[in-house]
Amino acid sequence: MRHLIAPEDLSVSDLDELLKLADDIYKNPKKYAKVCEGKKIATLFYEPSTRTRLSFEAAMLNLGGSVLGFSSADSSSATKGESVADTMRVISSYADICAIRHPKEGAPLVAAHNSTIPVINAGDGGHNHPTQTLTDLLTIKELKGRLNNLTIGCCGDLKFGRTVHSLIHTLTRYDNNSFVLISPDELKIPAYLREEVLEQNNVPYEEVRYLEDSLPKLDLLYMTRVQKERFFNEEDYVRLKDSYILDLEKMKYAKDDMLVLHPLPRVNEIAAEVDNDPRAVYFKQAEYGVYVRMALIIKLLELEV
Ligand code: NCD
Repeated sequence: MRHLIAPEDLSVSDLDELLKLADDIYKNPKKYAKVCEGKKIATLFYEPSTRTRLSFEAAMLNLGGSVLGFSSADSSSATKGESVADTMRVISSYADICAIRHPKEGAPLVAAHNSTIPVINAGDGGHNHPTQTLTDLLTIKELKGRLNNLTIGCCGDLKFGRTVHSLIHTLTRYDNNSFVLISPDELKIPAYLREEVLEQNNVPYEEVRYLEDSLPKLDLLYMTRVQKERFFNEEDYVRLKDSYILDLEKMKYAKDDMLVLHPLPRVNEIAAEVDNDPRAVYFKQAEYGVYVRMALIIKLLELEV
């Protein structure tokens, strides 16, 4: 049984295969319209979501399958005190594959241990978000043409932002990438990423406070939202929430072919005026999320295509 819980669950050759399949799905969607006929995906969302849940559902529908699930903990038996383990035992007999998002780090792993169907982590607390990383990789591959030899700026909430955690983890596995980690002191990446991922693999990185200084050298700028829901007090959030605002004035310092990515939702960190700049690819990125999730469902269900 294969699950996707953390970035290390996929090898570089798995990633290459997934991206190749996603590219083919993007170019020939009709070819895949019946691949999942008779199959069901359960989407178990204990935390808010727009893109991730709906792109999983769109992915399964595009493949000819069907969807079931819940979109908030309030509408599930979690409010009655049911454990993720028990829920998962039951869902295993209702669906063929499931995507789970939960505010607690590790909940999708618990689900996987109690499941007889493949489990996909759709975001666990401030920890990981591996399918957002697949979306990011497909975007970079399609629009930049490569996943190596990149100087990648990650900006914003690098402490609680699960998307950057999974992205850094994955991009360190491609040759010659380096990172510029742009955040306030309070929102730096967790120590495990610095020590066990970046330093252990001798990946060049710097931690800086200001966006302007590093913009000219970046090939990619990955902006993130300050994760309000993970803060212990409102005061800290209010102080840090507008630490970075990317606008057209700042974009003047960036290379002509630098790409701006953002997992979305955006709050204030990218001014709306940037949306029309050809380097702003975050809406295209959200679109790619469907194709890469179609590829992932096919691979985890071990379907012939
Ligand atoms: C992200 C998440 O849920 O972690 N959203 C997403 O899935 N595209 C980013 C965020 O909420 O800031």
